[in-house]
Amino acid sequence: MYGVFFEDINYAADGGLYAELVRNRSFEFLPVDNQSFTGMTAWTPTTEDGGAGTATPVDDGHRLHDRNRTHLRLTLGNPDAGRFGVTNSGFNRGIAVEAGRRYDFSVWARTDAAAGTRLTVALRDTDGRNLAVATRVAVRGDTWTKYTATLTAHRTSDAGRLSVLAAGTGTVRLDMVSLFPRDTFRARPNGMRRDLAEKVAALKPGFVRFPGGCLVNTGSMYGYDAASNWPRARSYQWKDTVGPVETRATNANFWGYNQSYGLGYYEYFQFAEDIGAMPLPVVPALVTGCGQNRATVDEALLRRHIQDTLDLIEFATGPVTSTWGGLRASMGHPEPFRLTHVAVGNEENLPDEFFANFQRFRAAIEAAHPEIVVVSNSGPASSGGTFDRLWQLNRDAGVELVDEHYYNSPAWFLQNNTRYDSYDRAGPKVFLGEYASRDAKLFNSLAEAAFMTGLERNADVVEMASYAPLLANVDHVQWRPDLIWFDNDESWGTTSYQVQKLFMTNVGDRTVPTLATGPTLGPQDITGSIGLSTWATSATYSDVRVTAPDGTVLFRDDFSAGAGQWTPLAHRGTWSVSGGGYTQSDTAALDTLVKAGNITTGDYDLSLKAKKNAGAE
Ligand code: AHR
Repeated sequence: MYGVFFEDINYAADGGLYAELVRNRSFEFLPVDNQSFTGMTAWTPTTEDGGAGTATPVDDGHRLHDRNRTHLRLTLGNPDAGRFGVTNSGFNRGIAVEAGRRYDFSVWARTDAAAGTRLTVALRDTDGRNLAVATRVAVRGDTWTKYTATLTAHRTSDAGRLSVLAAGTGTVRLDMVSLFPRDTFRARPNGMRRDLAEKVAALKPGFVRFPGGCLVNTGSMYGYDAASNWPRARSYQWKDTVGPVETRATNANFWGYNQSYGLGYYEYFQFAEDIGAMPLPVVPALVTGCGQNRATVDEALLRRHIQDTLDLIEFATGPVTSTWGGLRASMGHPEPFRLTHVAVGNEENLPDEFFANFQRFRAAIEAAHPEIVVVSNSGPASSGGTFDRLWQLNRDAGVELVDEHYYNSPAWFLQNNTRYDSYDRAGPKVFLGEYASRDAKLFNSLAEAAFMTGLERNADVVEMASYAPLLANVDHVQWRPDLIWFDNDESWGTTSYQVQKLFMTNVGDRTVPTLATGPTLGPQDITGSIGLSTWATSATYSDVRVTAPDGTVLFRDDFSAGAGQWTPLAHRGTWSVSGGGYTQSDTAALDTLVKAGNITTGDYDLSLKAKKNAGAE
């Protein structure tokens, strides 16, 4: 039931869960990501021992890859001694380095100097003192090659700087300047920051929803022309985020910064697997929700996105002999990932336009992968008409699972403990994909806890729930409250984190039957009569059940033997019917009684559940 929702908001990925320590490692930052950005953001030209040169980010034919457009050109002027290069200031205060830990450095480089170019790689604090013994890397030849080195820290600092300095003359080109702690979570290469991943894992989430949120809706309309016209700020597309990291794009993030995609779909799937959670990807529906209110009219683009979603399923679960399953295997995971759900769209504001697209995705996915649950959404719960309309569309179409989001006051959470008591048991199940009590005080967390007892009471309707957002970097906050906070070397959970952990690590695994009679808890627990106003036939219903409040199905008619053939499953106690005297053995009479709407309870309060066929009135 409980899981986490990871979105790259508040610098949750780069500088956060993604363990890369170098900011703007591929010199791709641009003003379109954020007006204050340039290719040199986080980098400073640096000279040593009288060295000279220029450092220029360039987007030209020398590029490392079509999707990794920009690199750094160093023009060197050190005929004798001296070194020239660049220094990276990392995220937040700097690069956090701990004595005794090992750090993996790598860089892609090429040089036109016939004798090659010697690079010096140094980790220093802001006073210029070494944090690790500097190491040398010899670059040879004018084709892109990856060079690696290991640095072992002998001093601790939370404000380290990484310098890459070149000796000699000529032109040396650098890209993907990278530094990772060796001990990432589960020691995965290109992995996660250990303390943050451990805090998420400690919640024992049942699922990980990713990568957004509004993030997935960014610019859903943009097409893709890698060779000539590279549109920045295109939508979050999973294919941009897989394969070797040096071939991945970076992109403007919905939340106003550059995202490297170093933490991409493979890493999300791997992380979910590592923490025993079900991965739940969200793909854009080509109707930009989150207040952007635009729907695509581009049929070809829509078809491509639908195909991309089928390809995503192949990437996660396809055999190694398939195109995308083969890519997954080449990245290190020949076994399939355990993908069972795919969500389409996020907080859609145009209900009819969204739903038309959703149905196209759903039909294609269900045709190719009937085992996959396609999750719809209901817009933001505060949207009133949109929310109601989307629920109606989802219900009418027999959608299995609908994503709901709300961020409200603590008073709202206390007053709405009964929210799901009245949800239609025959309708779609609820995925509460995002919720939080606004503000970050203990009272907010207690209100969330009180509300969560209502989720658990209604676990037959609320199938999944995740607090949001998950992570926030103290220096880059777009949204609060958040569950886990961090800077570059520390992290801590909020009181809401403790509430989530309490519930998530103490989930119920059985229902305790109750024999109590008396006032019922909510409108779905019916004392008095139960029945359908218009009786079911197999044309309109596929499954009708009479259920006791403890969830026990007493009688079931699945129409397999024709309407009215009730299967007694766990009938106990006695029935009484107004004006009659039926007993538990009178199952044949049950159909008549339900139709007439005049069963009353003996030992049980009963409820009636019926699963409607798609499209039935
Ligand atoms: O969780 C933060 C944002 O809230 C999500 O991106 C969006 O879905 C919602 O509006």
